[in-house]
Amino acid sequence: MSPWRAVRAALRVYVAGALVMLSQLLRRCLGGFSEPVFPPQPGRVAIVTGGTDGIGYATARRLARLGMHVILAGNDQRKAQEAVRKMKEETLNGQVEFLYCDLACMRSIREFVQAFRQKGLPLHVLVNNAGVMMVPQRSTRDGFEEHFGLNYLGHFLLTNLLLDVLQASGCAGRCARVVSVASATHYVAHMDMDDLQGRRGYSAHGAYAQSKLALVLFTYQLQALLAARGCPVTANAADPGVVDTDLYRHVFWGRSLLKRLAAPWFFKTPEEGSWTSVFAAVSPSLEGRGGRYLYNERETRSLGASYDPHLQQQLWAASCRLTGLRDSSRPLTPE
Ligand SMILES: NC(=O)c1ccc[n+]([C@@H]2O[C@H](COP(=O)([O-])OP(=O)(O)OC[C@H]3O[C@@H](n4cnc5c(N)ncnc54)[C@H](OP(=O)(O)O)[C@@H]3O)[C@@H](O)[C@H]2O)c1
Repeated sequence: MSPWRAVRAALRVYVAGALVMLSQLLRRCLGGFSEPVFPPQPGRVAIVTGGTDGIGYATARRLARLGMHVILAGNDQRKAQEAVRKMKEETLNGQVEFLYCDLACMRSIREFVQAFRQKGLPLHVLVNNAGVMMVPQRSTRDGFEEHFGLNYLGHFLLTNLLLDVLQASGCAGRCARVVSVASATHYVAHMDMDDLQGRRGYSAHGAYAQSKLALVLFTYQLQALLAARGCPVTANAADPGVVDTDLYRHVFWGRSLLKRLAAPWFFKTPEEGSWTSVFAAVSPSLEGRGGRYLYNERETRSLGASYDPHLQQQLWAASCRLTGLRDSSRPLTPE
């Protein structure tokens, strides 16, 4: 990639972020964010990836407060022990546990699913939340560019491996739900199907944005497949806004300093950032409704290209090839 294209990708990402931050500032000035109320969820089970930190922690904690049995899926055992202890204390819910899952490693994802299955639990909510942003160019254990491999492909594999459990746990009138955490950066992304992993030139900004667009395309294709099969499972994308978390740790110090100074006005807190994910996970208003892009606990339009069924199918087929999954969409959606 030419340096100019990388600069353009970065600029597009910052413009998208700045617009969201301005709208958040406006909302704060006009009375702030009001906490939504959700109905209790006793007896239901959720997995939250990246549930040990940031938006994921706040999402998992809220689900635990609603009475769900919550499994935090993460790649840091020590951090997770502390997160579980804290969450149990804060929610008074003893059904919070950790299972190791490195989303940047397909074998680890398969082992996680096996360990989860051994528990014999149902699964009502899967929140695909874990992610990295603007990391230097590097690969996952399986050799995929990290944003693509971890943010997107890891969740593609995880969701597909858990689909039968989700399907068996949902029922008409009470569907199981898949929530994938997207980002406004997807609006400025370009899905290059010939170079999904940035081999022709790397832009950390472009790679992050593309991984989020991939999650939106995946959500819509998944929803189409679930609906075609009459499965009691829905899939939605949740955009948290711009949230004050450690996600920005790879952003250089000047911007980090700016973030610290601006955060109280321009950023959502992790708690506020979790509301759209929780809304997608449990809101009765979304019962049976999937294939939506949710932002500020409301449905909104995603990037025009994300609704392109051909692009959705192309990405799905490529993802099956890369993860070694059988492409079960083929007979249902002939090209
Ligand atoms: N913050 C924002 O402004 C913003 C805006 C739009 C979208 N989002 C999205 O929101 C999601 C949560 O981000 P956040 O802001 O809460 O950031 P965060 O505080 O950095 O949390 C990210 C989580 O992902 C986990 N994770 C990273 N690599 C992993 C791996 N290989 N395997 C398993 N878990 C892994 C992290 O665990 P470790 O730290 O232990 O690795 C952490 O728990 C991400 O998908 C992000 O793209 C955030």
